[in-house]
Amino acid sequence: MFGGNLTDQDKGLERIFRPLPQTVIQANISPTEYEAAMKRGEIDFEGFWEEAAEELDWFKKWDKVLDRSGAPFYRWFVGAKCNIVYNALDRHIETRIKNKVAIIWEGEPGDMRKLTYYELYRKVNKFANVLTSLDVKKGDTVAIYLPNIPETAIAMLATAKIGGVHNVIFTGFSAMALRDRLKDADARVLVTADGFYRNGKVVNLKAIVDEALEECPGVETVVVVKRIASDIDMIDGRDLWYHELVDVESPEVEIEVMDSEDPLFIVHTSGTTDRPKGVVHVHGSYMVGVYKTFQWIFDIKETDIYWCAVDIGWITGHSYGVYAPLMAGATTVMYEGHVLYPKADRMWSMVEKYGINILYTSPTIIRMLRRFGSHLPLRWDLGTLRLLGSVGEPISPEAWLWYYKNVGKENCPIVDTWFQTETGMIMISPLPVSLLKPGSVGKPFPGVLMDVVDTHAKSKKPGEEGFLIVKNPWPAMFTTLYKDPQRYREIYWEKFPGYYYTGDMAKKDADGYIFVRGRADEVLNIGGQRVGALEMERALRDHKAVEEAAVVGIPDRIKGEVAKAFVVLKKGIEDSDDLINELKNKIRHELGSIAILKTVEFVESLPKTSSGEIMRHVLKTSQGSSKEAE
Ligand code: WTA
Repeated sequence: MFGGNLTDQDKGLERIFRPLPQTVIQANISPTEYEAAMKRGEIDFEGFWEEAAEELDWFKKWDKVLDRSGAPFYRWFVGAKCNIVYNALDRHIETRIKNKVAIIWEGEPGDMRKLTYYELYRKVNKFANVLTSLDVKKGDTVAIYLPNIPETAIAMLATAKIGGVHNVIFTGFSAMALRDRLKDADARVLVTADGFYRNGKVVNLKAIVDEALEECPGVETVVVVKRIASDIDMIDGRDLWYHELVDVESPEVEIEVMDSEDPLFIVHTSGTTDRPKGVVHVHGSYMVGVYKTFQWIFDIKETDIYWCAVDIGWITGHSYGVYAPLMAGATTVMYEGHVLYPKADRMWSMVEKYGINILYTSPTIIRMLRRFGSHLPLRWDLGTLRLLGSVGEPISPEAWLWYYKNVGKENCPIVDTWFQTETGMIMISPLPVSLLKPGSVGKPFPGVLMDVVDTHAKSKKPGEEGFLIVKNPWPAMFTTLYKDPQRYREIYWEKFPGYYYTGDMAKKDADGYIFVRGRADEVLNIGGQRVGALEMERALRDHKAVEEAAVVGIPDRIKGEVAKAFVVLKKGIEDSDDLINELKNKIRHELGSIAILKTVEFVESLPKTSSGEIMRHVLKTSQGSSKEAE
């Protein structure tokens, strides 16, 4: 049945790749079981997820799997008691996983640390005690502004273990962006580092924190991890060294018994508003969804070394960089720095050095590495790889094939996984035993019902583009927007009543395979990271020379998309290159390094509808004749 890995049944890039025989033999789920699970998911998704929940440890089981009475505020595993950290750490300490390596960490300069599950458990407990000593209680937010270092995972797990709510803020965000998030999440304690290494340079993280906190009186305590041992200002009464605090704490702590629906973390993301919004996830259903998808999609084995090469500050880092691999008892690799440092073969050198079996990364990274040529992966032994993953943005068939041939050597299935900060877990992906179509994210996961529809929620025909929606509640779903339940309802559940609106455009082929085109709303996807056009417009409008501004995404060969601003200047103001640079710097200063404003075009006016809404689609296709600068 599975004769070889590819058929040239279609020409060019539209090839279909059959599952590899060795993949099928080893798989955690066989093709027949997968088919049965898909059917089961369709007729009884609650039963399907209940069975998945049985595979994890609970302090008390649920009275009801799903409560729809408060829809769209669905509640999963009602009445159950649990703590995700029990599943990610505590239960392993009773088994032979105790002495297995949990985290292999590599710093950008090449330094390395390995932590076993037992060591990680003790470090988490110590830091949990530190947080308690700082008066962090159940339900309190702990903000974490840290790069990919083990302390980031430790701080997340320690917070969750005592019932706190972590709010990790990506270190690419600027002081102003950090300040906005700290205020929004009501953080009293912030965990950060003196600095870290990125692209051969030191990023002085603490200096950014000091700037952010000038206007953030709510943060009373800053815990500072010593990563680079540089000379930094420590403010008396506010700043404390991480190592001094943990040194005196006990390595044992009582785990907090949480309700299944108690909050676990907040991650801010960009959407259709001019401020980032806090997406809230909870303990019970999140652990079920993330655990099950990881087990089947990544086909994880006890012996695997798994590397999720993204930043922990994003949802992918939370779900599949920290929680999923730890719940599975896997060995996970974490890297601090830039993938092109010191050369474009850093990733391949790490695959060889650690014998990595599963590599999960983003199309932007794949495109970046591809640009440096196919000879680089050839210089390293990538023979341990058996599965590749992609996430965060559409991957073109060309990039997919490059990854498949040059990294996977035609021996590794690629799981192109679609999900969102809001969905928490992967919603659409092939399994390793599926047929693979380059450029397609495959089919929804068993127990997840999705469709491509028109504005009246009617299914589109195969090949037609439409809105991507989810038709049923799923575990790992976010439960609200922090302090803004009304917007949760409006943004996601009102456009297609009864269904969750993803904000994406997609099409399905005749086999039900989904091809995602990208966002239908005012969200840009720059290098796989979400940036709100409205957030950029707000920053531009704040500039004294600007009357009005509109931001749209334009295609970029490496980043997928970058931002272009159309700016109307106030009367009497002359455009100039200096002004363009000022505007670009303002965006960077206010939003951070991910918000790349590539081009500014000055225009006389913006195209608007009769009700005054900017017609971004017109701007997207317009060529523009006025002054433009890159
Ligand atoms: C996009 C990232 C195509 C999509 C996990 C979605 C993708 C947004 C894919 C969410 C994929 C994510 N193929 N597009 N495999 N995965 N996206 O919240 O537009 O940062 O709505 O979560 O990324 O971005 P977020």
